Amino acid sequence: MQGIIYMQLKKFVVTTVGKDDWTQLLDKSGLESRLYLPTNTYPDEEFSTLLSAISKASDRSRSAILEEFGQFVVPELFALYGTFISPEWKTLDLIENTEQTIHKVVRLRNPGADPARLKTIRRTIDEIEVTYDSPRKMCSLAKGIIHGVAAHYEERVSIDESRCMLMGDNCCKLYVKKEVI
Ligand code: HEM
Repeated sequence: MQGIIYMQLKKFVVTTVGKDDWTQLLDKSGLESRLYLPTNTYPDEEFSTLLSAISKASDRSRSAILEEFGQFVVPELFALYGTFISPEWKTLDLIENTEQTIHKVVRLRNPGADPARLKTIRRTIDEIEVTYDSPRKMCSLAKGIIHGVAAHYEERVSIDESRCMLMGDNCCKLYVKKEVI
């Protein structure tokens, strides 16, 4: 995973828990004095180890942390890749275009980056089906990002996960529905 994601994870811990806690988490994870640079790529195991440490320290599940982190990271993603986001898009349009447009650009800009390969089917104007099958098994991050994107557009969505890799399925299926506020 790219350094920018680790830098955001650090910001997430520092703002939601405390500055010293990040240093302690690094120590506990065997990553003393680790510095993350935005465009460098770091092993996924490090992200997983840090996630487990945050989960243990906060007594919350990895999924809950990932989902919250997903929402947290969205403003930075918009800031970095905003030029590739059409001003006409809303939440479901952005999700529909993430693979062909945004994640594609992420891969082109940083050959080390490997964002999730999402498949989408726009069921109706208000519903989209997302298939996620990354070996990282971080569908909770996807759910958090989706809620964060909705918050950006001042919309609200419900997500129904009918299949999940963490439950032994070969992919996660997220049915995202725009709610009428
Ligand atoms: C503003 C729009 C978005 C931007 C700029 C963006 C960018 C990125 C970047 C930079 C990464 C890290 C890649 C790496 O370090 O290798 C990533 C990963 C990821 N993205 Fe996106 N993304 C966007 C929207 C979305 C949406 C809408 C979803 C879900 C529907 C999503 C799901 C994920 C997931 C789950 C990962 C983690 C990698 C994995 O699970 O294999 N992203 N994205």
